[in-house]
Amino acid sequence: MQLKAQKSIRYVTPVTSNLEDIRHTFPSDNLPAGKSKAPYCRQLLYKNAICQKNGRWITSLMSIPELNDPLALFHNWLHEAEEKEVGDPTAACLATASIDAIPSARMVLLKNADSSGFVFYTNLESRKGDDLSNNPQAALCFHWESLHRQVRIEGSVALVPGGEADQYFSTRPKAVQIGAWASTQSKPLKNRSHLDQRVVEYTAKFGKSTVPRPTHWSGYRVAPERIEFWQQEDFRLHDRVLYVRDGSIWHHKSLFP
Ligand SMILES: Cc1cc2nc3c(=O)[nH]c(=O)nc-3n(C[C@H](O)[C@H](O)[C@H](O)COP(=O)(O)O)c2cc1C
Repeated sequence: MQLKAQKSIRYVTPVTSNLEDIRHTFPSDNLPAGKSKAPYCRQLLYKNAICQKNGRWITSLMSIPELNDPLALFHNWLHEAEEKEVGDPTAACLATASIDAIPSARMVLLKNADSSGFVFYTNLESRKGDDLSNNPQAALCFHWESLHRQVRIEGSVALVPGGEADQYFSTRPKAVQIGAWASTQSKPLKNRSHLDQRVVEYTAKFGKSTVPRPTHWSGYRVAPERIEFWQQEDFRLHDRVLYVRDGSIWHHKSLFP
């Protein structure tokens, strides 16, 4: 489901209603070169403080929409990243940890995201596959430079059903399917020609027939327990909203930047 970007309004406790106080809150060495303190702080005040209601400021400083469903917000941001990001917006850093709690991280591509979780595909006998078979917990981190945004996802991991992996594998170009057979991912490679030779062998083996999905290649689904949205803001006063799953509902709270 794609949503239009929304501007959120959140209540904050008033620090001050006095413009002079606000000016003094931000020393001039934090201001961009050439900007005088007073107009910049006034702009900051006007941008952030809309009005006071029931003794509290209503502010637009926090720009992350608060939805009941963080998946909808994720898709909203991903959609915006698809339009603006120069690189692949589905690229995410995947962190795993070994049975000895040694962490490792690498990039993967997100292939599906719905209420059941975030799916990526890989070789199950790779280093990450070893980690996940021993310790089925993972974190994904998306960074969209063009939007100054980050999303962090954490949760337990399970293999996708075989039929789902077969369906996805069948959509891959044949050369990529052969590559999944030829590469014993993360294992030592004597030299490049050894990989080339394996590609030739599997290309000959499958010929013109359909390439089946290797049993050592499939997808993992990260079932999110925590999803944190981060939006860059002025003066490093970034906006962060953490969603934590409680059964079928999500609670959210703001975090200090
Ligand atoms: C942008 C990008 C996307 C990648 N996507 C995947 C992917 O979806 N699946 C995968 O197995 N490796 C992917 N890789 C390669 C991994 O980062 C990594 O090198 C490989 O999976 C082996 O990791 P491991 O030894 O920790 O298991 C990608 C690399 C980059 C730079």
